[in-house]
Amino acid sequence: MNSYNLGGHSGCQIYLIEDDDGKTFVRKISKDEDYNERLKAQSEKQASFNGEQVKAPAVLHQGYTEEGLYFFDMEYVQGITLAEYVKTMEIGKVKGLVESLVSSIIPKRSITSITECKSDVSQIFAKKLSGLRKTLSVHNNPVIDHSLTLLEAHDWSKLTYSQCHGDMTLENIIVKNDKLYFIDFLDSFYDSWFLDIGTLLQDVQVMWSYRFQETVSMNTVLRLIVFRDLLIDEIKQVNPAYVVEIYYSLLQKLIRIYPYTKDELTYHFLNEKTSLVIEEIMKLEKAAGEESL
Ligand SMILES: Nc1ncnc2c1ncn2[C@@H]1O[C@H](COP(=O)(O)OP(=O)(O)O)[C@@H](O)[C@H]1O
Ligand SMILES: [Mg+2]
Repeated sequence: MNSYNLGGHSGCQIYLIEDDDGKTFVRKISKDEDYNERLKAQSEKQASFNGEQVKAPAVLHQGYTEEGLYFFDMEYVQGITLAEYVKTMEIGKVKGLVESLVSSIIPKRSITSITECKSDVSQIFAKKLSGLRKTLSVHNNPVIDHSLTLLEAHDWSKLTYSQCHGDMTLENIIVKNDKLYFIDFLDSFYDSWFLDIGTLLQDVQVMWSYRFQETVSMNTVLRLIVFRDLLIDEIKQVNPAYVVEIYYSLLQKLIRIYPYTKDELTYHFLNEKTSLVIEEIMKLEKAAGEESL
């Protein structure tokens, strides 16, 4: 049996394994026992994912290592991450890619049920935001304060409950023969496709996945801008009022990163990007206000 470490961000171990019959699969092992339940939830989310044009690698097997760590085995998708693919892809292909992403992220019919009514959404966000206010108060940062004030005043009831990936970065999407696969699903405090699009914007608007790269080539930046504009266009076509909701989703996502920023450079980057997102929200709300006059 051969195995290669595939790396990753979560601290879990991810191996590409070739068994004695020459079959390959990927094994993801929990980083510690406390993480077992979350990784198990991840494999369940992945196994039950149902996308129109996007797939998830089939979950083949699950179990526990001798050390008591949960693991699951899945189909190996021999491709590259969308974060890498974007750098060199033909610009003409971005539209098709955005269309298949959107058709798989936005459910045709919402699955809002009696258990998730509007007041629940508001309560869930109010609770999340009050926790964040406590955690973030040590920062004494006007950008965070402004964000929290906006987020607390926002009516979150448009965010319908739906299937949700939970961590939809460009690094968690694999491209193989122009087909897309979602990996690395994550349980979240609330499941809604709006939050997934917000996370996508974190990469295509804020360029978060590229923050450690010394220079991001103009080609990549250009493709990300085209990607973002086409994504926003698609959302507008579904409902123009959703665009601002996506930016609010992005804003809550960004301020949740602050507690994890370790170095000053990343902190400044985050602060600068968060301010820009606030500006964008103000602009969108001003435009919506003028339209309704
Ligand atoms: N099923 C798979 N097929 C091919 N590559 C994979 C697969 N699962 C993970 N990878 C590769 O391993 C990397 C890390 O996996 P991921 O599940 O995203 O871990 P983490 O939770 O640490 O981010 C991915 O970015 C991808 O390159
Ligand atoms: Mg990942």
